[in-house]
Amino acid sequence: PVLVVDFGAQYAQLIARRVREAGVFSELIPHTATAEEIAARNPVALILSGGPSSVYEPGAPTIDRRVFDLGVPTLGICYGFQVMAQALGGEVANTGLREYGATGAALVGDGGVLLGGQPAEQNVWMSHGDQVSRAPDGFQVLASTAATPVAAFGNDERCFYGVQWHPEVKHTDHGQEIIENFLHKAAGLPADWNAGNVIAEQVERIREQIGSARVISALSGGVDSAVSTALVHRAVGDQLTAVFVDHGLLRKGEREQVEKDYVESTGVRLITVDAADTFLGHLAGVTDPEEKRKIIGREFIRAFEKVQKDLIAEAAAEGEPIRFLVQGTLYPDVVESGGGAGTANIKSHHNVGGLPEDLDFELVEPLRTLFKDEVRAIGRELGIPEAIVGRQPFPGPGLGIRIIGEVTRERLEILREADAIAREELSAAGLDGEIWQCPVVLLADVRSVGVQGDGRTYGHPIVLRPVSSEDAMTADWTRLPYDVLSKISNRITNEVREVNRVVLDVTSKPPGTIEWE
Ligand code: XMP
Repeated sequence: PVLVVDFGAQYAQLIARRVREAGVFSELIPHTATAEEIAARNPVALILSGGPSSVYEPGAPTIDRRVFDLGVPTLGICYGFQVMAQALGGEVANTGLREYGATGAALVGDGGVLLGGQPAEQNVWMSHGDQVSRAPDGFQVLASTAATPVAAFGNDERCFYGVQWHPEVKHTDHGQEIIENFLHKAAGLPADWNAGNVIAEQVERIREQIGSARVISALSGGVDSAVSTALVHRAVGDQLTAVFVDHGLLRKGEREQVEKDYVESTGVRLITVDAADTFLGHLAGVTDPEEKRKIIGREFIRAFEKVQKDLIAEAAAEGEPIRFLVQGTLYPDVVESGGGAGTANIKSHHNVGGLPEDLDFELVEPLRTLFKDEVRAIGRELGIPEAIVGRQPFPGPGLGIRIIGEVTRERLEILREADAIAREELSAAGLDGEIWQCPVVLLADVRSVGVQGDGRTYGHPIVLRPVSSEDAMTADWTRLPYDVLSKISNRITNEVREVNRVVLDVTSKPPGTIEWE
């Protein structure tokens, strides 16, 4: 892989994604890795990420200098550029001149392999206090800005390059070209990493791991479990059984999508557990959000364990025990839990609502090295219907945490209809790409006076919560066009009995979370 050495910048994951967008596999590695550890991963190139600090600060993150003797093509970015300059005998100075945000950069000469072919003047995204005041011997200066004479450099012989600005962010005009020039032209790496190859490689690995044993998978209806399950099915066919727990808190059409469209397109053997009555029974009278979540999580485990027992018995009778469980863990989860290699623990709050922690299974996690957009690309390649692959994130506890107040069958029916209308109109307006998700919330304990036809109504409000986000950690409310909002509002108040008012949530996160409970 291309190894992105992480100096603690929020940009390191983004760099890894950009490298993959250029068709080259990449992974993150902490800057504390030794030269031996890095060499053991057989990197085809290294990229040193940005970092929050100055190279002169006490405790500033560094890198094992012997990394530069490995003969591996290297690109330094921002802080990584300065670390590189310093390690190779250049100079980094704190001149007190800070550059932050959009900055004009000018090529020096033709810009070399890294910047060649780009406009002589361009906008780049900067964020630094220190600067490289002298390039190391043997390096050519490739660009400068008003405040930074050495804003990019290169040494073609050693295949070492660096830029002070951030090529990985969209605000840099020709950023992706820099990454591609480094990978393809300087390091000579082909663009051969794509969905088809990932599938072939994962199928191999899964077969190796599972052998002839049985494996089960919990489908949530979400993208990650759908794609990981389909991948495992591609690898081991009917050694896999998928389990889908219908807790009665699903959105309109979701169960049918999984039972029909998903099964038809993938051939996965599916068992649906009809647990709506049980879930609703336990949720009766409960209004506290945390209590709802706990009940839903606990009941999910119970429902899953019941099928699991049957399946284990069946498998044992046939002489091939169930030894494996599929999990849709993604790369950001792995990175955030400090992993990278080794086995992961089952997360208590996964899509499916939390699997038991004492399950005696080995995990199969075919998405462990992938980002969300890559999972979607693989899902499409596997032929999974767009309605599932392109789906917005949906919380494990489902509509249960979108009814403010007690969850009842009637209230679920109201919310399901309103949610279906909102989703339909947002899609029809082509806004699916713009929003991260749009929870639709029923304020079940609130009533307001309205007038419809000749009569007075006393119905419930529905809240629309459209948000834009990169990762759900922070979010902003999406400025939806008024005519789309108007259409949604008209349809919901006309078509959904009991709802006489539609309101819009205009709160960012923080302070508001995305979900209301
Ligand atoms: P909040 O409401 O915390 O949500 O801003 C952040 C993201 O997480 C989703 N979410 C959940 N997903 N199980 C899940 O699998 C849960 O219990 C859960 N609660 C919130 C939410 O939809 C948003 O995308």
